[in-house]
Amino acid sequence: MAAILLVDDDESLREVMKYHLEQDGHEVLTAENGRAGFELFTKHGPDVVVSDIVMPEIGGVELLKRIKDVSSDTMFVMITAHGSVESAVEAMRLGACDYLEKPFAADALKMSVKKALRVANLEKENKYLRGVAIDKYRFGNIVGASEAMKRVFETAARVAERNATVLILGESGSGKELLAKAIHFNSRRKDGPFIPVNVSAIPGQLIDSELFGHEKGAFTGAVTRHAGAFERASGGTIFLDEIAEMPAEHQVRLLRVLQEKEIVRVGGEKSEQVNARVIAATNRDLDDMVRSGQFRQDLYFRLSVVPIEMPPLRRRADDIPSLVAHFLEKHGAESGSERMKMSPEAMDVLMKYDWPGNVRELENAIERCAAITAGPVIAPEDLPEKIRQGAAALGLKAFRFELPEGGIVLEDVEKTLIQAALEKNNNNQSAAARYLGITRNTLLYRMDKFNLK
Ligand SMILES: Nc1ncnc2c1ncn2[C@@H]1O[C@H](COP(=O)(O)OP(=O)(O)OP(=O)(O)O)[C@@H](O)[C@H]1O
Ligand SMILES: [Mg+2]
Repeated sequence: MAAILLVDDDESLREVMKYHLEQDGHEVLTAENGRAGFELFTKHGPDVVVSDIVMPEIGGVELLKRIKDVSSDTMFVMITAHGSVESAVEAMRLGACDYLEKPFAADALKMSVKKALRVANLEKENKYLRGVAIDKYRFGNIVGASEAMKRVFETAARVAERNATVLILGESGSGKELLAKAIHFNSRRKDGPFIPVNVSAIPGQLIDSELFGHEKGAFTGAVTRHAGAFERASGGTIFLDEIAEMPAEHQVRLLRVLQEKEIVRVGGEKSEQVNARVIAATNRDLDDMVRSGQFRQDLYFRLSVVPIEMPPLRRRADDIPSLVAHFLEKHGAESGSERMKMSPEAMDVLMKYDWPGNVRELENAIERCAAITAGPVIAPEDLPEKIRQGAAALGLKAFRFELPEGGIVLEDVEKTLIQAALEKNNNNQSAAARYLGITRNTLLYRMDKFNLK
């Protein structure tokens, strides 16, 4: 059973078709023209659309285009006038999977819908086999084996196909730009350009011209007309990196562009449509910046239609072995040493370290090891000093909880930890706060909340 949308201005034909398809157990929606059809389509997302070609208001061809625009997977069967081969060809060219020539028998309609559903299922299956569902620990060139990354890949794969604006959050070196590229190259815009713009690297007075372009003579030095990043990203993706560093007055202008989907070049008057998908990224806490008035809330909302958080490497140690293998292959080959590997002791060090520089730091470490290690096996001594010492220091601090079967109450744990930290620090509140990595005020607030003296 499937959901089918019938669009035809001929009411009796509509009713007859509806009757036959319902007989086959399908759920059938009907509309009398393309406009109403498209509305129903966006609301219900049917599996198959069967539509007449000539209708008042919006006809079948326009409806087909609009539907394919928002949902390229939807199966579309076009009903054409008797003998009009040309329109049938046109419909197929635009992505219809079949056409029915008027007049047609009920069986022909049923067959056509059946065929459409079969194709739809095949395509779904194909996607499944090729895509994230099977190869779930990879998305683009991003390596990951942890549950946290699996969730990132799933979200990214889901949004890639749509045009939604994506905001990527995460610490430095966690792979934000890599993810942005992977989203672009997994989207329908993959053949279009990917234009990265590092907002923090552009001097304030040039931001507008870099983003929106300028006309010849717009300011001293503007000797030729210049296409801005939005314009160059047309048909593709613009990646606004370090978006938090955008000065306030430019935030307003960016907001307007995102809302109106139009730009005006500096020194120009005419506004022009932009057709660039926007992906933004930052390693700052935007929530916090909004609260303290450093970043516009309306712009934040516009950008974070789909927020994706890249977890820091220290919270996904499961990824370390596969990343190590990946980088060893990449840099081992470069340095001419075939088949290098980590000794278990060296891997242990890598697993213990807390990676403030995230994947970038790991990659640098591996690249260095690959270049200087003589043998095929990398020992702990071959690792950068900073990492060895860092891991050793963390090793002392590391502790594990034995979690009880029945579950725990997080607040109780927090209370216990605060008590323990106070005891450990002889009830010196400042020292206990420092030990817990929070401010004294936060500690006092929590002590109050938990009724600790
Ligand atoms: N999961 C991953 N798999 C493979 N390579 C990765 C992964 N994550 C990051 N890298 C590599 O690590 C380096 C840093 O990644 P990237 O530039 O995307 O980080 P970033 O979050 O944009 O950092 P910054 O905030 O400093 O700009 C790149 O060379 C990238 O290819
Ligand atoms: Mg980056």
